Amino acid sequence: ALDQALTDVENQFDTPTDLLKQITDRMLWEFNKGLAGAPTDDESFMPMIPSYLQQVPHGTEKGTYLALDLGGTNLRVCEVELLGDSKWRMKQQKYKVSEALKVGEVTALFDYIAGSVDHFLTEIGTSASEDEKLHLGFTFSFPVQQTAIAAGTLMSWTKGFECKNAIGKDVVQLLQDALDRKHIHVRCSALVNDTCGTLMAAAYERGDCLCGGIFGTGTNGAYVEDIDRLTKMGFQADELEANKRHGLDKMVVNTEWGAFDNERTVLPFTVFDSRVDRISINPRKQAYEKMISGMYLGEVTRNVLLHLVDSQVLFKGYSTRALNAHYGLDTALMSALEAPFVPNSTESGDPLAAVRDVLTSSLGLAPALVADADCSAAARVSEVVGTRGCRLAACAIAATVRQTEQTTQGQEKELVFGLDGSLVEFYPRFEQRVRDALVEILGADQAKKVKIALAKDGSGVGAALCAQAAAAMESKGA
Ligand code: BG6
Ligand code: GLC
Repeated sequence: ALDQALTDVENQFDTPTDLLKQITDRMLWEFNKGLAGAPTDDESFMPMIPSYLQQVPHGTEKGTYLALDLGGTNLRVCEVELLGDSKWRMKQQKYKVSEALKVGEVTALFDYIAGSVDHFLTEIGTSASEDEKLHLGFTFSFPVQQTAIAAGTLMSWTKGFECKNAIGKDVVQLLQDALDRKHIHVRCSALVNDTCGTLMAAAYERGDCLCGGIFGTGTNGAYVEDIDRLTKMGFQADELEANKRHGLDKMVVNTEWGAFDNERTVLPFTVFDSRVDRISINPRKQAYEKMISGMYLGEVTRNVLLHLVDSQVLFKGYSTRALNAHYGLDTALMSALEAPFVPNSTESGDPLAAVRDVLTSSLGLAPALVADADCSAAARVSEVVGTRGCRLAACAIAATVRQTEQTTQGQEKELVFGLDGSLVEFYPRFEQRVRDALVEILGADQAKKVKIALAKDGSGVGAALCAQAAAAMESKGA
């Protein structure tokens, strides 16, 4: 009976090549709809947000900047020293954002952020001189309608944040006000999404990066687009010409691909996905993100395991407090469930025993409830849910590669995708699973051109690079 139930789950989570191709095509369609400007109040489509970043770094940029990073696992305050030879040095401190702050008044969140900057400056210190005003790049990893390099209003919260009185507000202003309230001598001079920051950092390090992506708590991507395809910016022909003359004919676009297919036209929704969506803080939003990213994969897995428990084929039909709790199965547990089965893994010993350990210690299952078959079934469920996530992730990469190839006209020998996030870093065989699917979608030759570059902590460096770009523009009087 367990085998039968597992086969049924596998079928529901199957993502055959044809489906992946269909999803990729639909994503390209949504990209272009977003570039042309779907009505801003229509939240069904990907926003495709202009970042106002018109050049990617060369690797020669220099200077010391503060960077603030909100929206991943941790709030980070960093001081980044760009050394000018594609290298950088960073001092950083992580701060925890409590669940209460994530749903409280937005000013309380920003006061906490400003307090963290203050703490960083007093405890860790800066190399800038006393009277120098420090420039700060703010990586804010949520959908923001950007109107300039240092201005943008929050469109919606994602990833479990739901602070009050924030939607429609300028997040740079919120930050600057909070800094000023505490008399902190810091000026927020650039606002950047983590995907754009990752792209900028990877370009600084390698010189040839046109795409950036995050597969972490959430998922999203950015890429370099021809400005004349960003028709919603409303440039006139003479402006486009002038931009071209000044070498400003490109712009980094933040796709917000987590919002792909909110209309549910191609994504393979199962009953488990619907359950996860329905009781999330943002039902019917971020459809794609909820099948892929770290915040939700564990929750989908938990729902499948509960279904097997309720079907009386797993754990002798018993559940536990952790298994019953909303978000009770952290995605990190999936790594622990699957790692023992990874070929050539450094873990030695009996994989089933390792899984039993995870199930008893982290999910509170009594050892007597966990037979060998339960261990392999739990690991298999995790693999099935995770593999679907990786294969769907490949669709966004494939769509971005195709879109970017319009700009490069297929001239590039390789296309570098800077990636960051906890799934990329910690989920076993993430890159391999993505790669396998990329080959299916793009064909072996084109897939071979795609180079995945891990840009760990990239968006801190990216934020510093944006602050540098803003300071450079300002000193030119732009
Ligand atoms: C970090 C970046 O390394 O990765 C953040 O600095 C980004 O900007 C984060 O949001 C994404 O990963 P996660 O897993 O922390 O959400
Ligand atoms: C969510 C946010 C997006 C961010 C991504 C990765 O999708 O909306 O802005 O880039 O998570 O952190």
